Parts: sequence; structure tokens; C-alpha cells
Amino acid sequence: MSVSSSHSAASRILKIGIVGFGSFAQFLSKTMIRQGHILRAASRTDYSNLCSQMGISFFRNVDELLEAENDVILICTSILSLSEVLRSLPLHRLKRPTLFADVLSVKEHPRNVLLQVLPAECDVLCTHPMFGPESGKDGWKDLTLMYERVRIRDEAICSSFLQIFESEGCRMLEMSCEEHDKMAARSQFITHTIGRILSEMEIQSTSIDTKGFERLVQLKESTMRDSFDLFSGLFVHNRFAQQELENLQLAFNKVKQKLVEKMNEEQN
Ligand SMILES: NC(=O)c1ccc[n+]([C@@H]2O[C@H](COP(=O)([O-])OP(=O)(O)OC[C@H]3O[C@@H](n4cnc5c(N)ncnc54)[C@H](OP(=O)(O)O)[C@@H]3O)[C@@H](O)[C@H]2O)c1
Repeated sequence: MSVSSSHSAASRILKIGIVGFGSFAQFLSKTMIRQGHILRAASRTDYSNLCSQMGISFFRNVDELLEAENDVILICTSILSLSEVLRSLPLHRLKRPTLFADVLSVKEHPRNVLLQVLPAECDVLCTHPMFGPESGKDGWKDLTLMYERVRIRDEAICSSFLQIFESEGCRMLEMSCEEHDKMAARSQFITHTIGRILSEMEIQSTSIDTKGFERLVQLKESTMRDSFDLFSGLFVHNRFAQQELENLQLAFNKVKQKLVEKMNEEQN
């Protein structure tokens, strides 16, 4: 694992074709456009109006997106749909070797599928911006961009793509996809699971909230802003998540047992 603060290569204007133009892709696009990059997008849903307001060419047909001259194809689909979306891309329509980058919140799964489906001449960069529309709404400074350079031959394109994040002040963290998934199962997945549990309990602000409880209500609210596809993807496609869910349950049982023991002690 290494944190880098500067890439020597000069950045350049990139032509970026986005596959999956949901809320996270829309959030990333605003910054990329401000930086002067040229964006195109294709998605299952028709985003042509939104894209035309943002200055992005929208293609209903992904064939046309792949046929355009792209430096980077940026995969922003849900974790659950990734395999189906990638396997249905008409990759023979690519005009030239292209960098494929993804932003999925799990990393071994996209790395494996990208390596399986892409032609050998395409480069692969796996990334996970550890922030979203809420935490990154006032800028990306000091927010972490995790990445693994899985298969990179065109250093200039890869560096220019990473510069998008670096130039916003992101903390650039190079880490293997496996290491990421291990850590994310114990951190991000547990955070989302607790947020979902709090939502099932229907916790609400009260007139006597402590600061700690205010944070729990915020956690519930921020978790529920993400789709259930995103949350379940963190579990289904991270091989370390099942064990962490077990650990959470064991820890819950232990705490409950300690409380019951104490109550029994007091009553005797
Ligand atoms: N939200 C965040 O804060 C955040 C942060 C870091 C990384 N990410 C990652 O970014 C990606 C997108 O996240 P998100 O927040 O926008 O929500 P999401 O629910 O994880 O993904 C929504 C995207 O997936 C597409 N999609 C879903 N099911 C599909 C299917 N069956 N066929 C084709 N496309 C399908 C949607 O297309 P349509 O909109 O066209 O229907 C949309 O582009 C995810 O992989 C997520 O893990 C998100």
C-alpha cells in the first residue's frame, strides 16, 4: 500500500466514455467537466435531457459510445449489474486500445470480470473513490481515491486519469484490490449494515438527542440515500463480507449476553 502526493506526468484533456450514468456517475461528471474533459455517456435509463444540460453527449445505444474515440471507458454501473453490462458491451467496436477504469465499491470482482472480458490490448485501472455526493459535495480535498494499476501500458493516459482526482486534492492510495476488499468488509460494509439496521428499527431524532445519537441518525440517513443494489453488492461481491456479518452477529450476541448476565447478578 502506498500514498502518493504527486504524479510527474502532465495531465491532458481526456475523452471519457461513461457506462452507467446513475447518481454517482453524475456526481463525478460535474468535476470532470469543470476540469475540461470531454464526456460521453450511455446508460439503461434515458439521461439525454440531463446530459444535454451538462454538455455531455448521451447515447441510447452503447455501440455508438464504444465507437467514439475514447481515451477512457469509465464503468459506473451498479456492482450487481457489472458482469451483465460488461459481457454485453460490443467490444469489437472499440477503435483502439482503451483504458477501462471502474469506480465500484468492491474491487476484486470488477478486476476479475474486466480481465476476463476485455481484449488483452486494453488497459485496466480499478479505483474506488471513498466518498460520494454527500461527503464530496464541498470538494474532494483530502478524500481518498483508492486504486490498483491492474494492467497499464499507456502510462500517460492512466496518469492523466488519476490526475482528475489528484488535482482536486484527493489522498491517492495505491492498494491491491484484495487488500481493499478485506478492509472495506470491516469498515464500509459494517457501516452500511449498521445504518440499515438502524433504519429497520425506525430510529428518529428525539427532543433529548445526545451527540452520539445525532450521529446515529445521520448514519441511518446517509446509508439510506444509497440504493439497496449498492448495499447488497458490498455483500454479494466481496468475499470477505460474509465473515464480517458473522462477526457482527457474534459481537451483538456477546454484548447481549454480558447485559443479561449483569441483570441476573443484580437480581440474585
Ligand atoms: N454512491 C456513492 O457514494 C458511491 C461511491 C463510490 C463508488 N460508488 C460506486 O459507483 C457505482 C454507481 O453507484 P450509484 O450510487 O450510482 O448507484 P448504484 O445503484 O450502485 O448503481 C446505479 C447505476 O447502475 C446502473 N444499473 C443498475 N442496474 C442495471 C442493470 N440491470 N443494467 C444496466 N445498468 C444498471 C444504473 O443505470 P440507470 O441509471 O441507467 O438505470 C446506474 O447507472 C456503484 O458501483 C457504486 O458501488 C458509489
